[in-house]
Amino acid sequence: MNRRKGGVEGRIVACDLIKYAALFLIPGAVYNSMRAFDMGNTVTTINKAVYVQPGGGFDRVTLDSSETSPPQAHEMTVRIYANSLNYHDYAVVSGMWGPKVPRIPMSDGAGEVIAVGTGVTEFAPGDHVVSTFFPTWLEGEPEISDFHTVPGDGVDGFAREQVTMPATAFTRAPKDYSHAEAATLTCAGLTAWRALMVDGDLKPGETVLVQGTGGVSVFALQFAKAAGATVIATSSSNEKLDRLKALGADYLINYREDEDWGNSARHLTGGRGVDHVIEVGGPASLAQSLVAARVGGHIAIIGILSGTTATLPLHTVLTRQLRLKGLVVGHRRWQMDMIRAIDAIGLRPVIDRHFSLEQIVEAFRYQESRHHVGKICLDI
Ligand SMILES: NC(=O)c1ccc[n+]([C@@H]2O[C@H](COP(=O)([O-])OP(=O)(O)OC[C@H]3O[C@@H](n4cnc5c(N)ncnc54)[C@H](OP(=O)(O)O)[C@@H]3O)[C@@H](O)[C@H]2O)c1
Repeated sequence: MNRRKGGVEGRIVACDLIKYAALFLIPGAVYNSMRAFDMGNTVTTINKAVYVQPGGGFDRVTLDSSETSPPQAHEMTVRIYANSLNYHDYAVVSGMWGPKVPRIPMSDGAGEVIAVGTGVTEFAPGDHVVSTFFPTWLEGEPEISDFHTVPGDGVDGFAREQVTMPATAFTRAPKDYSHAEAATLTCAGLTAWRALMVDGDLKPGETVLVQGTGGVSVFALQFAKAAGATVIATSSSNEKLDRLKALGADYLINYREDEDWGNSARHLTGGRGVDHVIEVGGPASLAQSLVAARVGGHIAIIGILSGTTATLPLHTVLTRQLRLKGLVVGHRRWQMDMIRAIDAIGLRPVIDRHFSLEQIVEAFRYQESRHHVGKICLDI
């Protein structure tokens, strides 16, 4: 596997031009025939892939190739057609939490099964599938407390055309979803689902406070409304709040204009406080989240957008008898539960913008600008 150093834009050296042309420039029939020749299910194939070099950084992202071996027992090969961007992927690629070795980024991949190994009964070629965040956490209590098994961080991810992995590293995609829509579910979708439906045991009529307009918060808004909850949504931007209103948010607060937004949210519940907070802001928002929560309320500790260390006013936590529940995404079984629910209620993810795989740095710069509402996707 060739993991070349250099920037995405214009660092392809002459001796690699033929391979580069095969991977990126030869359109249509020629490229497809190469692909068909390679896909006999017995030979290793070479596919385009993006790498981020050790330490990360947008100037250290390269377009190259990766090898896909034929599936062994209990494995399958998937043609990946889409990724979605998460803050976690941004941290890896930008260098905030850069990788130690050259790494194919992106935790979320969706596509079509093209070959299965012996013993795979859950999937068949042609099935549309979506990856799981923890490929080895199939169900049960969490035992993993880091990212060493997570695609795009501890192991290679899905910014590539094909992967061969254990079949249990995927679930079926929702019916009639595009690959990009399916790719939004792995991290952001499942995090919001678990926070509300698993850890929060959300009931119709309860009130949920969601923070900002990123992937997790927009999914939380959608799941909460689908479950019959009232939603209070916050954002830094009145324009983005209008988008949240259109998605069903009942009450809107601009947290830039209203620094005491925790009390404002409390006021909106008649002084009782909200039942659930989707806490993604971190140190900058935690104190206000505690103010907003009702006695016995649930605060899902999810995000660290403003930093990783916060002061915790213990008196408030004690007297309000709050349930602060930290979580990292979830296991495969919850992903299957979520997808069954999505099929039943017809929920569609909010995709703000699509980029091509080759525009991965541009896509992260767009995410960094915080102009998006919901998810940003890569088409491969
Ligand atoms: N624990 C888990 O399992 C888990 C899973 C997924 C994500 N996360 C974490 O949850 C957070 C959100 O992730 P995401 O993928 O949904 O993010 P995202 O799509 O990049 O959304 C970021 C949005 O959050 C709002 N925001 C508020 N304060 C911010 C700040 N200080 N810096 C940047 N944005 C800020 C902005 O919306 P407005 O302008 O509308 O306010 C911004 O557009 C991240 O910290 C991520 O690491 C955790």
